[in-house]
Amino acid sequence: MRSDFCGDLRELNVASDVQLCGWVHRRRDHGGVIFLDLRDYSGIVQVVFDPDTVEAFSLADTVRNEFVIRVEGRVRRRDAEAVNEKMDTGDIEVLGQQLEILNFAETPPFQLDEYSSAGEDVRLKNRALDLRRPEMQSRLRLRSQVAHMIRNFMEKESFVEVETPILTKATPEGARDYLVPSRVHPGCFYALPQSPQLFKQLLMMAGIDRYYQIARCFRDEDLRADRQPEFTQLDVEMSFVKQEDVMEIAENLIRKIFLQTIQVDLGELPVLDYNEAILRYGTDRPDLRFDLRLVDIDDLLKDSEFKVFSGPAKDIGSRVVALRLPDGDCLSRKNIDDYTNFVSLYGARGLAYIRVNDLSKGLGGLQSPILKFLSDEAIQSILDRCEVSDGDVIFFGADKAKIVNESMSALRNKLAEDLDLYVSAWSCCWVKNFPMFEKDEEGRISAVHHPFTSPAGTAKEIEEDPLKMNSWSYDLVINGYEVGGGSIRVHKTEIQESIFRAMKYTQEEIDSKFGFFLDALKYGAPPHGGIAFGLDRIVMLLSGSSAIRDVIAFPKTQTASCLLTAAPDEVSVRQLEELGIELRKLEDLGGGRT
Ligand code: AMO
Ligand code: AMP
Repeated sequence: MRSDFCGDLRELNVASDVQLCGWVHRRRDHGGVIFLDLRDYSGIVQVVFDPDTVEAFSLADTVRNEFVIRVEGRVRRRDAEAVNEKMDTGDIEVLGQQLEILNFAETPPFQLDEYSSAGEDVRLKNRALDLRRPEMQSRLRLRSQVAHMIRNFMEKESFVEVETPILTKATPEGARDYLVPSRVHPGCFYALPQSPQLFKQLLMMAGIDRYYQIARCFRDEDLRADRQPEFTQLDVEMSFVKQEDVMEIAENLIRKIFLQTIQVDLGELPVLDYNEAILRYGTDRPDLRFDLRLVDIDDLLKDSEFKVFSGPAKDIGSRVVALRLPDGDCLSRKNIDDYTNFVSLYGARGLAYIRVNDLSKGLGGLQSPILKFLSDEAIQSILDRCEVSDGDVIFFGADKAKIVNESMSALRNKLAEDLDLYVSAWSCCWVKNFPMFEKDEEGRISAVHHPFTSPAGTAKEIEEDPLKMNSWSYDLVINGYEVGGGSIRVHKTEIQESIFRAMKYTQEEIDSKFGFFLDALKYGAPPHGGIAFGLDRIVMLLSGSSAIRDVIAFPKTQTASCLLTAAPDEVSVRQLEELGIELRKLEDLGGGRT
């Protein structure tokens, strides 16, 4: 049907006859001629219809936005004053000679080039239309390009692509499972995999040696801009490796992707210890594009009369930190109030601050509502430790460590964004040596990564004090996003069992949940390790978008619904009966769809 793609035409095509197909992006009538901007995936070209070509002209007069047409015409150079530098094809246009309407279109619910005023709900509901936008086209193509590069890279490195089941048993990665009822086994459910973790380990036990898969994962968890309930990992596992071997392969791949897609050299990747990351940045995924740091000041405030500080300073599970903002004097009182409200979203009960106006005036050159509560000596030590200069503002966080870490790391990111503190466009780092376990809110011990991560110690040490145990684990962080995470795995039964015991699983639970896995471990599991990258997050970063919905063709909303298909949806009574399922009244379940 066509000889060329719209966006490919250039000066060298001048005087050639072309046949083009696509959508009418826009129609304009101008001084007796009709201009159609014709769009296909490759871009847009201007087609002109003169009244001399009577039939084509009168047909062109009837087309509307998003009509699908086929045009035959001749490429010609535009007059100098008509050249459009903003368009790739702006030096030329096509003089239309014949026009065929391949399909009509109703008036679309939003103009493709005015999508931003349409609201995301309308766009997601009409996704086929939304995806026609050049921006979305290029994101999906970038995603395909990245997947292709991954496959090339992995195959060259002798990895084997193996598919693992979607209908399976729960794989714990810290989220809730999506369950699928079985018709053949009434009352029984499959779980959709949160990741292929157990299967990739089984493949190592099977002697596959090097596995990869571009795998779909499913997690029922609270959604954020960088999380979807259904997302894609590049999942990798290797046998007979140490942590450094996995990190090296992962790093080579990620460097290559960045270099080949957006021509960015990620440079040397700093490696931070987990503890170091938490101490300095309050998070295990620090954004290192700017240099704001948290400074611990507990020791300076233990004896202070200011209970807000001395309480947490004396408490083992709490923290008191200072965050120095150079040139913070640009912040108004209102700005600081807004930041106080911002940190309260993370549970902080306040945001104390000191303005450093003029150090030559000693403590008199400071301004703060908390000075009156602190001794001169404490204030001076804080100033010294923070290495302040005139014009700085020091912010303080004092509370349970979790609250301080979450609120102050979020404040760190927010200040950088608001005040444009970035000194580089990209920062990529490794964070390693995560603790093996943590206590969750109910005081239960859970695995920080997952329970198949190798502890950096013995079964006996786990039993003695699990919370002291570190693990052979590593995360890859880019611009404050966790884009990958992995570990060396447990390959010895007794260690795996001691981990389950530390997590207070009963023997019965261990057998029913992981019996198949422990059985396989018994027969000569090799030392192995791996990593999984979040493909959606990587493409999101490469494309400069701020939501992974933008790089997923058919994403879900923040409430895990698909606006296009209206999933999840109710099902017929007959289907439920076949599955042996009886629903309680919707009100009892807390309402249906939101
Ligand atoms: P983890 O849970 O860290 O590790 O996941 C690996 C990577 O997947 C991405 N990711 C997500 N992306 C979008 N939406 C989500 N809901 C989501 N959750 C995770 C992140 C993350 O770094 N089996 C282990 C890996 C291993 O140990 O090899 C695992 O799944 O970029
Ligand atoms: P207050 O004594 O509660 O009025 O607090 C005095 C100052 O300390 C105010 O600027 C509060 O914003 C700040 N503040 C209170 N609680 C905390 C906290 N947990 N961490 C940091 N600053 C706090």
